[in-house]
This record gives sequence, C-alpha cells and structure tokens, in this order.
Amino acid sequence: MDIVLGLQWGDEGKGKFIDLISENYDIAARFNGGSNAGHSIERNGKRITLKMIPSGIFMQGVQNVIGTGTVLDPVSFKNEILNLKKFDETLQPENNLIISKKAHFVLPTYRLMDVFMEENPAYTTIGTTKNGIAQAYSNKILRQNVRIGDMYAPDFQERVQHILERDYSFMAGEDMLIPPLEEISKEFFEAVEFLKQFNCTETELLLNKALIEGKTILGEGSQATLLDIDHGTYPYVTSSSTIASGACSGLGISPKKIGEIYGIAKAYCTRVGNGIFPTELFDEMGEEIRIKGNEFGSNTGRPRRTGWLDLPALRYAVMINGITQLVLTKADVLSGLKSVAVCTHYELEDGSVEATAGTLPENARPIFKWLEGWNADFSVIKDPSALPEELMNFLSFLEQEMGVPVTYLSIGPGREEILKMK
Ligand code: GDP
Ligand code: IMO
Ligand code: MG
Repeated sequence: MDIVLGLQWGDEGKGKFIDLISENYDIAARFNGGSNAGHSIERNGKRITLKMIPSGIFMQGVQNVIGTGTVLDPVSFKNEILNLKKFDETLQPENNLIISKKAHFVLPTYRLMDVFMEENPAYTTIGTTKNGIAQAYSNKILRQNVRIGDMYAPDFQERVQHILERDYSFMAGEDMLIPPLEEISKEFFEAVEFLKQFNCTETELLLNKALIEGKTILGEGSQATLLDIDHGTYPYVTSSSTIASGACSGLGISPKKIGEIYGIAKAYCTRVGNGIFPTELFDEMGEEIRIKGNEFGSNTGRPRRTGWLDLPALRYAVMINGITQLVLTKADVLSGLKSVAVCTHYELEDGSVEATAGTLPENARPIFKWLEGWNADFSVIKDPSALPEELMNFLSFLEQEMGVPVTYLSIGPGREEILKMK
C-alpha cells in the first residue's frame, strides 16, 4: 500500500493529487476523519469538493473504500452522493464504493454538541468544522457509539434512539437552540436506509485479500500531520490519526505492507481554525496569498490563515510519517514575488535557537531565509525544463533541507496542472 497524506494543517491539495494518481491503483481507501475533510477536485472545468467519498471515485475500475478509522455521518454522506451524481451523471458510486462495517457513525446530536462546545465559554474553542467529529471519536473511545455494521441489527433504531434521547436530556439542561428530536431522528434513519444501498463489509479482509492477490492500494489521508490527535498542535487538532501509521490502524493493514508515502505540502502554509502558526502573516502579503491561492476553506468557506513555509514543522512531519516522496503544491501562487521567505529555525524566548524538528514551540520567533522569487506563466508550462531557475533552486533547497525528493510539482488547481519531476 502507498499512502498520500498532508504535511501541514490540511488543504495541501491531497484531493487533486489522489484524483490524478489513483488511476495507477486498484483500490483507493480513506483511512481517517469524516465530513470535516474537503478535498477539491477539478474535472472538465467543473469543481467538486469531496468530504467522505475517497478521491479515487472518478476512476473507472478503481474500488473506493471508506475505512474503519473513519466516522460517517449518513445525512451528510447522502447529500454528498446526490451531489456527486449531479456533478457527473455517468458515475455509479453504489458499484465502486465499499464501506467498513467497523467505521463509526456520526449521530445528529454530535453536530449539535460540537456547535455547543465551540460556542460555550466553558470549553476551549478549537475552531472545528462543526461536523461532530470529536463527538463521534470520543464516543467511540468511550465505547458508547454505534458502528456502520450495527445498522443491520434488529435493535439498531432503539440503540440510536437511546443515545439521541440521552444527548437531548443533557442539552435540555443547557441554554441551546435545538431542533425537535423527531425531526433529526427521521432524517437520520432515512439516510441510514440510503446508506444500505452500499456494500458495507469487513474492509480489512477485503483489503488484505486484495494485497495477497497482488492488487495495489492507495491510502488517502484527510486533515494532516499537524492536526494529528497525538502528534499535532494539541489541543488545536482534529480527533483522528492523520499520519502514516494511522493508515495502517485505520485500514487494518500491516506496516510491513507500506511502500511509498507521499507527503503533500504547499509552497507556503495555511491553517483554518485556531492554534499556533509561527510563520503566520498578518500583513498585505498574507492577504495577497489568500486571494491568489483562493485560500478559503473547501468545507466551511472560512478564510484560511496564511504564512510562509515552515521548515522545522515540515521536517517534523516528514520524520513522523517517514515520507519517501514530496509533492509540492501551489508554487504558482507565489509567482511574481521578488523574494519568498522560508522559516529555517526558531528563536526561543530565552534567546536560544531551535533548529531541529520538533513540536512547534509556543512564543517562538521564526527566523526566515529569503530566497529569490520566480515569475512565470504557469498555465503554459508542461515540462519541468520550462520551470524558472529560481523555482528549481527553491526545490533543491527544500530537498536538501528535508532529505526527500520533490517528485511532483503542482502548478495550478486543474487536473493536468502538475509536473512529474523525477
Ligand atoms: P485537500 O483538502 O488537501 O484536498 O485540499 P483542498 O482541496 O481543501 O484545498 C486545496 C485547494 O487548492 C483546492 O482549491 C485546489 O483546487 C487548489 N489547488 C491544488 N493544487 C493547486 C496548485 O498547485 N495551484 C493552485 N493555484 N491551486 C491548487
Ligand atoms: P482536509 O482533509 C483543514 C481543522 C479545523 C479545526 C480542527 C478540528 O480538507 O485537509 P474538526 O472539525 O476536525 O474537529 O476540527 O481541524 N480541520 C481541517 N483543516 N483541512 C481539513 O481537512 C480539516 N479538517 C479539520 O479547522 O481547526
Ligand atoms: Mg481540504
């Protein structure tokens, strides 16, 4: 199995890259997260954002798997499928999308609780996508949740109703605006019926059998390394394992079976939601990158925070994941700048210098190195030999700093706007 995952705070362009390379695989499998993801794909001049559906869905002959490490909200999933079919009427996702029986449900009260916790001063505000993701994962860990396979059990409705009522009785004690319970439970159970059209099975068995038969699998990560529940910038993280080892646990595949691990990074950094961001730009440059890079959340529409590339953070992400190939995206967005900055290390409050990879230190001052900027009309570049010298120097510098080759360079949002560098 090869893996594609994000190295920063998400939205690095995973969807676009996976859409492109999934044709080389038999199976594309999402291993973590839920509809908090927003993976944008442009096809034939049209654009769609996938949340739960793996980004290999457009490839004829590729089986798509929603793995065990994910959490699935059937209401959101139903809307996504209907939207996908509108986007491309030729697709028949019922035939090439398989869902793990062991993936967990996101129940409708989880969304309400997410909003409540985000807005209530008694809790830390994370800046979540308000999809009930943390509530689903925390109920999983508490062993109070229901899983996809449970929907076939005769007492499923009763079990869900019990959880919904318990959550409602909690919420009734708080000053919360909540829809009638009958309304959300009706919508939920209708969406569960819709979900039953899909093949829900023990995906671990399916995936391991496929490997024995010599088939190839691409693991698709959502969110990214610095949002990982264990290794990210806690508490401002998501609730799942977003890293390479998360692909093994999330899909039930042995670490021995891992081949290439593609790490996707932007040529700069962005972040949505709260939390530390040492290289963040608060000036016109930050705004310029936001506008040129169209840095507005694919999932929530929120403006993304922008900043320069952070090498210590990137080195940390490369290390945690064992990245074998780097995919650099959005080099086109920085085009036209006289010089571009990268943070090479941090100066700590006591004046000492932190040069190595590590968890981002609080209150650290990023020390920047300025490199020559590049300028090109990227829409006409079809071959690496046509890339500006300054950009090639930037890539060499990055490779040297990371010790990993940049094998793909993305130079626009379109499907074809990517160059194979090695
Ligand atoms: P993901 O969550 O990692 O799949 O990334 P998103 O889809 O949330 O955000 C990436 C955004 O950048 C999307 O709007 C893509 O269409 C766009 N994009 C991807 N690669 C490039 C690139 O190389 N250049 C430009 N300008 N846009 C890109
Ligand atoms: P993709 O897959 C960027 C962020 C939220 C918030 C934190 C927790 O498109 O890269 P959550 O809803 O997961 O409880 O929110 O994580 N976040 C993302 N940021 N891209 C994503 O996904 C994200 N998914 C969650 O903004 O800061
Ligand atoms: Mg995204």
